Amino acid sequence: MTVAPSRSLRSSAELIRAEEPVLAHNYHPLPVVVARAEGAWVEDVEGRRYLDMLAGYSALNFGHRHPALIEAAHRQLDQLTLTSRAFHNDRLAQFAESLAELTGLDMVLPMNTGAEAVESAIKVARKWAYEVKGVAPDQATIVVAADNFHGRTTTIVSFSTDETARAGFGPFTPGFRVVPYNDLAALEAAIDETTAAVLIEPIQGEAGVVIPDDGYLRGVRELTRRTGCLFIADEIQSGLGRTGRTLAVEHEDVVPDMILLGKALGGGIVPVSAVVARRDVLQVLRPGEHGSTFGGNPLSAAVGSAVVELLETGEYQRRAAELGIVLRGGLTALVGKGVQGFRARGLWAGVDIDPAIGTGRDISERLMREGVLVKDTHGSTIRLAPPLTITGEELRTALGSLEKVLTEGA
Ligand SMILES: Cc1ncc(COP(=O)(O)O)c(C=O)c1O
Repeated sequence: MTVAPSRSLRSSAELIRAEEPVLAHNYHPLPVVVARAEGAWVEDVEGRRYLDMLAGYSALNFGHRHPALIEAAHRQLDQLTLTSRAFHNDRLAQFAESLAELTGLDMVLPMNTGAEAVESAIKVARKWAYEVKGVAPDQATIVVAADNFHGRTTTIVSFSTDETARAGFGPFTPGFRVVPYNDLAALEAAIDETTAAVLIEPIQGEAGVVIPDDGYLRGVRELTRRTGCLFIADEIQSGLGRTGRTLAVEHEDVVPDMILLGKALGGGIVPVSAVVARRDVLQVLRPGEHGSTFGGNPLSAAVGSAVVELLETGEYQRRAAELGIVLRGGLTALVGKGVQGFRARGLWAGVDIDPAIGTGRDISERLMREGVLVKDTHGSTIRLAPPLTITGEELRTALGSLEKVLTEGA
């Protein structure tokens, strides 16, 4: 009997070439083909090891294949994987209870991807506006921030200010008003009796880890309360430990009306997202008005519950805060040495590279050759978001590689 050669026996170069004719070209990945991973490390097809300083855009906050998460997934795979919401499953109640408790809100709408959570929140906010606030039919508006990133669906790109994300995808969904981020006066001017909600990222991730001034999130909370509209915080990238707190809004002691979670909620294993909200908001949804075949499936619920359990210990938030000091210190030392400036909170940084040294993509490729994986954004910025399980030594190694790459490029 002949055994078909495993596809992964092909080299990285062969695999990259093989993708070209058969895979949509909607990404421009670094030329690394990952085959295995554990913790903060990934290994390519040829066995080269790299420190993962991107962590799946924060989907891998707990590192690759965290033992507790893998165990929860394995256990659930042996019991039950999918019921659809036509029936109840024995994992969902615990997931919803623990997630509501973790976030300090009341009710959970489980979905799969981040974009679905955003779409769901938009629907909930509009319904709330018509049923509770009394906005005239089809007149509800949602105020969003410039330079936002909330996902890729047609409604979400309708209120993007990134031309690459929008061009060629119209006609767009109406009902959104865009104001500058971090500008409370502009926000206040945009809110009127039609406003259902204000939807913002507490820290703008894709924009380059843009952190608003102290007081902005508190201001948004006060303004939305005073004007009678909902505050929706998209914590899909900023939440679940990344910034040194469970949620980024906690840095200003703010509780929004709806919190959107995704990415790390699935433990890097399955796509799990959720809208977590006050009961009087989420209860506007009634049977048949919204749903998802996979949302709340028992495998996702089991992994999501295990993620919440990890966060309940506080260990990962603490690590992000403590190692965040190391990250900040390392980046501060590089300012003027190839780094023009940076923004950081917890284990999350946007680093602006001196264009004289190279683009963000150039630096990402050079770092890859040094065994460190990062991702560029907006031309000259690179994003650092390692797993929260990274050790201080590993983090210093990555910072050392960045210094080497910047100095060699100078
Ligand atoms: C803040 C934010 N919202 C929503 C999304 C969309 O999530 P997904 O790619 O899972 O649809 C992202 C993804 O990067 C994000 O960063």
